[in-house]
Amino acid sequence: MAAPTTIAKLKQFVGQEVEIRGWMFNKRSSGKIQFLQIRDGSGTVQAVAVKSEIDDKLFEELDALTLESSLTVQGVVCEDKRSHSGVELTLKNAQVIAVASEDFPIGKKEHGVDFLLDNRHLWLRSERQWAILRIRDELERGIQDFYAEEGFIKLDCPEITPNACEGTTTLFAIDYFGEPAYLSQSGQLYLEAGIMSLGKVYDFQPVFRAEKSKTRRHLIEFWMTDAEAAFVDHAENMQIQERMVCYLVARVLQHRTHELTILERDISPLLKVQAPFDHLTYDAAILELQKLGSDIQWGTDFGNDDETMLMQAHVKPLFVEKFPAAIKAFYMLRDPNNEKVVMGNDLLAPEGYGEIIGGSQREHDFDKLKASIERHQLPMDAFKWYLDLRQYGSVPHSGFGLGLERIVAWICNLPHVRETTPFPRLLNRKYP
Ligand code: 4AD
Ligand code: MG
Repeated sequence: MAAPTTIAKLKQFVGQEVEIRGWMFNKRSSGKIQFLQIRDGSGTVQAVAVKSEIDDKLFEELDALTLESSLTVQGVVCEDKRSHSGVELTLKNAQVIAVASEDFPIGKKEHGVDFLLDNRHLWLRSERQWAILRIRDELERGIQDFYAEEGFIKLDCPEITPNACEGTTTLFAIDYFGEPAYLSQSGQLYLEAGIMSLGKVYDFQPVFRAEKSKTRRHLIEFWMTDAEAAFVDHAENMQIQERMVCYLVARVLQHRTHELTILERDISPLLKVQAPFDHLTYDAAILELQKLGSDIQWGTDFGNDDETMLMQAHVKPLFVEKFPAAIKAFYMLRDPNNEKVVMGNDLLAPEGYGEIIGGSQREHDFDKLKASIERHQLPMDAFKWYLDLRQYGSVPHSGFGLGLERIVAWICNLPHVRETTPFPRLLNRKYP
């Protein structure tokens, strides 16, 4: 009996008989010989069935087998320099597990985006989606490994909150046993409590934004990692962001080359993602945008087009710092030299991907924070606990939030964030 293994491990078994279990996603036949393309999650391999060498009934059964049927295959592993995996299987025997209906909707022909999204549960099986999901997984582990190496502790934050973190316009309200509550927009405020216990903390979980916009960068539900650290100022905060982005890009380049190849990702721009990144103040960015022909005025936030335009001259990610306080969240520390702007940054990705990180030093003075909550007309009751943090041993501190889907889209060079997540939630879509 051949031992079951996975396609990714086949190279270790050249010359031996093995068993693999998976799905037949494609097939070619020349009458006397069939080439079955099989995938098992870990990779793909070609199994060659020769009529004269296997049971007649089995050969016929395989010949009639529909695409996406599941099966177990026993065969001998042979070297095959032409294939990506370096091996193919000479099929000896096979057992069909379930015959797929003939009308598997995702074919070789071009499909519209809505059709693909309606069939997302089946679309996930395609090679491109497989590659994207594996890069997403690499980034998820990379994020956690980076924090561990830097001494950050994971602090899990609630998804149901009594208050807004990032402004009230994108809040998802829910009925909490007759009282209003909101789905979390970011774990940040809770991390600020966590640092007073653990020093450096992070979260990594879904967040929700009731974004009424349909752009290629916005999801309604997405995964965010927030980081927060005590005694870290705005400048050091940006250094952590820079180290993290360099680490993540290098990690995907190292461990997911095959997936990047499947996506036909030109990796030369990614190879340039090395410290130090350039910095531009918001003031300077506005002047640059106006020079480039934008009619943006000081005091307005960047739109997607502004970010893309600004990044045309940059091959590496770019820090834009010191945005006007009026367009940023209530918790950001004001610049001591200019009360109109905050000690915060956005990190913009090149190649048209725009903001991937937002971060800042936080206001740690009780009176100033209270005044800011009032200015933003936020309900003081809900923020009492947050203000407490400034009553009992407040310290300067900073943090940032990275949107997972934004960095996946950039690294994979995807036209839209909808393909970065297994089941995207968009303005007009919550199915499947
Ligand atoms: O810039 P944002 O709103 O910052 C915060 O939420 C802070 N509380 C983070 C912090 O300081 N701890 O969001 C952070 C990042 C953005 O830079 C972007 O990458 C992503 O989250 N993001 C979105 N991604 C997908 N869809 C959306 N609707 C997003 N909104 C923000
Ligand atoms: Mg932001």
